[in-house]
Amino acid sequence: VLLIGCGKIAGRFDDPAGGPVESHAAAIAGHPDFTIRACVDADAGVAKAFAEKYAIERFYTSVAELPETADFDVAVISTPDATHFSVAKSLFASREKPLGILFMEKPVCQHPGELAELLALSAAAEIPVVVNMSRRFHALYRQLRQRSIREQTGRLIRADIYYYGGWRHNGIHMVDTLNFLFGGRFTDIQILDSTDTGTEDPTLSVKCLLAGEDAEVWIHGLSDQHYQLFDLDLKYTNGRLQIRNFEADIRWETVVTNNRGEKVLVASNLFEGIGERSPLETAYAELHEYLSTGNLSILEPVTLKSVSPSMQVIWSVND
Ligand SMILES: NC(=O)c1ccc[n+]([C@@H]2O[C@H](COP(=O)([O-])OP(=O)(O)OC[C@H]3O[C@@H](n4cnc5c(N)ncnc54)[C@H](O)[C@@H]3O)[C@@H](O)[C@H]2O)c1
Repeated sequence: VLLIGCGKIAGRFDDPAGGPVESHAAAIAGHPDFTIRACVDADAGVAKAFAEKYAIERFYTSVAELPETADFDVAVISTPDATHFSVAKSLFASREKPLGILFMEKPVCQHPGELAELLALSAAAEIPVVVNMSRRFHALYRQLRQRSIREQTGRLIRADIYYYGGWRHNGIHMVDTLNFLFGGRFTDIQILDSTDTGTEDPTLSVKCLLAGEDAEVWIHGLSDQHYQLFDLDLKYTNGRLQIRNFEADIRWETVVTNNRGEKVLVASNLFEGIGERSPLETAYAELHEYLSTGNLSILEPVTLKSVSPSMQVIWSVND
């Protein structure tokens, strides 16, 4: 693996003694067939410290410094949002022997033109671009897409979603989760409110309709001045699903009729095996499966093409 951008999500602050597998370096370290062979960070001190921490053979301060003959199964782009596109372009342009997979952090790019160019470069080079929309790798959201679970939840009637940290930067997580679960047909999009207004990416509150489900969606943007919050409160015809605090607390309540004939909610079990593997562990397991078999259908739900409709929704609101 070539890792570009040695910051938080890459594993810069991980405890060497172990802990939850929430970084690229931790997930790669836990996979028997992957090793980070080189790392790149624009800050030479950060690149060097990261290489020492993870015993990586080579480190560089830009993709341009990589030898032309270097060849990697996976390149990870975990640099800041605004740099993803240019780093990806330089990877596509400079490699004589291209990569197996390009694994990019979200949001992959900033404009529809960049998205179109990346899709074209990926198709021309036959290098899949996989996006770390982490909830697409999470067992909870995967089970929620299954027919057997959908039959138990019934249809979505309303969603209240809470997020922080910029519409483009973090709103993409929530829009993409809805896209992943219900399809990307967002209509009647209205901006209700805006916080973090002094920044170039305000945290918008947005109301819209999910056409396929005929459900109202309220996306509440909160400031992270006091703490970070990611919650989904999904009301279905047969019950309510609360996903609190970055999936730390997941509660399903099903509708029952009590002895007074009233419909009320009662806690029950709906999911199995959630939390056995972190999203990034699942991601690297699937990258490996694709590299071993060449079967592209393994990656289909997590490719740039699958995530593209979510990015279009994000940009349409900005417009
Ligand atoms: N998928 C997720 O759930 C998730 C979670 C956290 C962060 N992210 C994404 O990961 C990316 C990185 O976030 P972070 O919190 O780790 O950021 P960070 O600021 O901690 O790290 C980014 C690193 O990239 C380096 N860098 C900057 N420009 C570079 C360039 N052109 N080439 C090489 N290195 C460069 C910086 O020096 C820094 O060390 C962001 O795009 C963020 O949205 C995704």
